[in-house]
Amino acid sequence: MASIKVSLRQVGKIFDAGVAPALDNVSLDIAEGSICVLMGLSGSGKSTLLRTINGLAVPTSGKVLVDGTDLAQLAPRRLQQWRREAAGMVFQSSALFAHLNVIDNAAFGLELAGVGRKERHRRAGSVLEQVGLLAHAKQYPHQLSGGMRQRVGMARALAVNPSLLLMDEAFSALDPLKRREMQELLLELLRAQRRTIVFVSHDIDEALRLGDQIALLHGGKLLQQGAPRALLDHPVNEHVREFFQSADTSSHLLASDLIDHEAGFSTLPELISVPADSRLSELMPRLGAFRLPLTVRDASGVVLGLITAASALRTITRASARN
Ligand SMILES: Nc1ncnc2c1ncn2[C@@H]1O[C@H](COP(=O)(O)OP(=O)(O)O)[C@@H](O)[C@H]1O
Ligand SMILES: [Mg+2]
Repeated sequence: MASIKVSLRQVGKIFDAGVAPALDNVSLDIAEGSICVLMGLSGSGKSTLLRTINGLAVPTSGKVLVDGTDLAQLAPRRLQQWRREAAGMVFQSSALFAHLNVIDNAAFGLELAGVGRKERHRRAGSVLEQVGLLAHAKQYPHQLSGGMRQRVGMARALAVNPSLLLMDEAFSALDPLKRREMQELLLELLRAQRRTIVFVSHDIDEALRLGDQIALLHGGKLLQQGAPRALLDHPVNEHVREFFQSADTSSHLLASDLIDHEAGFSTLPELISVPADSRLSELMPRLGAFRLPLTVRDASGVVLGLITAASALRTITRASARN
């Protein structure tokens, strides 16, 4: 089981009678192998929703289905076992054990799962290598930077090879550069091994970069779920529109968005080709440096059109004006 599907059916969660519910009738589908980013202001119910997916928060009403299995129907021991073996969790504070070195921290979930020491270290070593920390295996958490500690937290979650990864503001405490690095690392790890990810973030850039889907919560209610571009381009109401207003939407434009439809086609050999899904940030230096149009090709090499400096500028201006 490489990845799993998660469905919430009219999930409600009331912590205190008399206080507005933390979750109010939330229905949500997360496709297997996809990344769903949960967004919303502080207190909107993101962490609570995340915790209903691994059974740490029990819904007051409604159901959470994991590959069709209703979590409420699992016996407590089965639920605990499922949580340990299938649902890795990564928090903002990496919550490492100060008295354990890096490899034992990374192997902690395996120890809970009853894996023997030798096999534990073999598997933990392999994930530490994936997150670039194998050389630090014998160090202790206080000897590491914040970014490295967060990598250990990720290694610990990945060591059990979970089909589901729940990440609660996992990169929020990192500076922008480190955060970006971790996002790239996560995407790279997912290319090697598909998993279903539910990623809580209040950072719009992060959500646009990582999310196949964004689910936006407000006061415990799900306002809108869809592809990032759908929420930006077609917000269902004012709340959604306002929430995304601060997003720098131009930085998420792709080569295919920038094609100059008046420039026609040209396959002059001296023109540089770029893949249709190249990001604006990669394209701008090239447009600037070569002062020639770029040829946009799809994955099979077919020419889709040309990007000229003028067409790029027009599209960027339009995207920015939307804010
Ligand atoms: N364990 C708890 N006991 C009581 N109230 C809680 C508990 N956890 C969360 N809440 C309340 O539920 C609401 C949603 O909280 P939370 O899910 O943590 O939001 P977010 O992660 O979006 O900031 C808040 O009003 C919060 O005070
Ligand atoms: Mg939270």
